[in-house]
Amino acid sequence: MYAASWEKDRKAWDFLGSGSASGIYKSTDGGSSWERISNEGSGFPTGLDVGRIGLTVFNENTIYAVHDNQDRRDKSEENEKESDVLTKDDFKTFSDNVNGRVYKSFSEDEQQQMGSAPAVAKTPEALYQGACMACHATGVANAPKFGDKTAWEPKAALGINTLLQTAITGKGAMPPKGGSAYSEEELRSVIEYMLSEAGLAVAN
Ligand code: HEC
Repeated sequence: MYAASWEKDRKAWDFLGSGSASGIYKSTDGGSSWERISNEGSGFPTGLDVGRIGLTVFNENTIYAVHDNQDRRDKSEENEKESDVLTKDDFKTFSDNVNGRVYKSFSEDEQQQMGSAPAVAKTPEALYQGACMACHATGVANAPKFGDKTAWEPKAALGINTLLQTAITGKGAMPPKGGSAYSEEELRSVIEYMLSEAGLAVAN
């Protein structure tokens, strides 16, 4: 009969997952007495870094053990081997070729662009679907309905600049910018889109 012990200590601020009391024990009298067989010189790791051990008996001569060995290799030893793992420093010095893999490096201009303006401007149709359709498609709370010339005609007469200002500040049940984060340009383009889809020419 074999058993494995595991020394551990779990506290709110700490977890100790190994210790010299972890080891493999053997009993030949049905469990009345136990002898530790993972001793110094047994070939099995001993000492403070012995973690969990899983055992399985294969036959009377062989048992297998899996061991959660906490004996960390030296940092220097680990760094010596070429690692594919990227660390934060790799990103600082991103080049076109890291460990044989090719990455795109971006110029400062490109990076700036990615940070601010989206590379591809959304079409007015996509903008409409993104933030305006929810109310204007069906005319929620008396919102002028999409494609409804009669509803939009008096609005068009106000001129695009007035409509834009109203859309920015909101009106009645319509929240500022329709609840979107669209820029003035985007709002202008989507209003023009709604007017033209209602068959109206855009007046200034
Ligand atoms: C939560 C619902 C809602 C959303 C979302 C919404 N609207 Fe509206 N919108 C309304 C309502 C309601 C009105 C009518 C307001 C009134 O006349 O009291 C309106 C009116 C308007 C008008 C006419 C303003 C005027 O002068 O009468 C414009 C232009 C407009 N919306 C543009 C937009 C745009 C552009 C978007 C998307 C960015 C959008 N709306 C999203 C509800 C909405």
